[in-house]
Amino acid sequence: MTDFAGKVVIVTGASTGLGRQTALRFAEAGAHLVLADIETVSGEETAHAVSAAGGEVVFVRTDVSRNADVEHMVSEAVRKFGRLDCAFNNAGIAQRGRPVAELPEEEWDRAIGVNLKGVWLCLKHECAQMLKQGGGAIVNTSSIMGVVSGPGLSAYSASKSGVLGLTRSVALDYATAGIRVNAVCPGGIANTAITNRADVQDAMESLKMATPMGRLGEPDDIASAVMWLCSPASRFVTGQALTVDGGFTAW
Ligand SMILES: NC(=O)c1ccc[n+]([C@@H]2O[C@H](COP(=O)([O-])OP(=O)(O)OC[C@H]3O[C@@H](n4cnc5c(N)ncnc54)[C@H](O)[C@@H]3O)[C@@H](O)[C@H]2O)c1
Repeated sequence: MTDFAGKVVIVTGASTGLGRQTALRFAEAGAHLVLADIETVSGEETAHAVSAAGGEVVFVRTDVSRNADVEHMVSEAVRKFGRLDCAFNNAGIAQRGRPVAELPEEEWDRAIGVNLKGVWLCLKHECAQMLKQGGGAIVNTSSIMGVVSGPGLSAYSASKSGVLGLTRSVALDYATAGIRVNAVCPGGIANTAITNRADVQDAMESLKMATPMGRLGEPDDIASAVMWLCSPASRFVTGQALTVDGGFTAW
């Protein structure tokens, strides 16, 4: 396992799912964690679990779609731990599947606000801090729905495709400044708040059937990819999208 001893890592969407598991893995590897999420109760629970895994941790209640919240999140990392080494910009929301003619404008605005503007705000404030220190590594959560798409997902798919463009552009902004920016594109991942919902079980079963490996992913499959992208082992990798989907997009 890569050693993250003393490294300061922000994880957004850390209360549940992929963010929670990735935070736990970073804590086990010795990192100090700044957990950010809009949900306070489950966020504090995750903070306790991270602490039990041996990590120093602070939970910062954050709505990633609000500039003031994201600025505060980064300043709390610096206030508590003095620096920022890595960030996993992972907070996101699903879209209720429906064709574009039936999608209310508010649902479009919400998906873009959280999934795309939220990642942009995180990059803006994290990069400003990393520039002061001379580097860092950032991973943004996109999706296989940012690489391919599906019916009824116009807002979600556009937001996740947007994350890939954002990732490439910001990677180029700071390629010579020691800041690496990459994205992870999860396939269908079981055991997260989004995918445990009763109303998406049929879709998850279809996703499983369409996955060449014959199973859904686990949050730990994503955590492993994120940690590699944050580690020195990937030091020549920037502006890339790493798809972790059991072969779904290889068809
Ligand atoms: N689970 C999958 O199959 C899958 C597949 C592809 C991509 N993703 C992406 O992975 C990421 C994590 O999803 P997950 O499956 O772990 O779901 P999840 O619902 O368990 O986690 C998402 C977290 O984001 C938080 N969040 C939502 N809106 C927020 C906001 N405005 N500000 C801060 N936090 C907010 C939620 O409270 C939650 O803790 C999302 O970006 C999602 O789109 C998930």
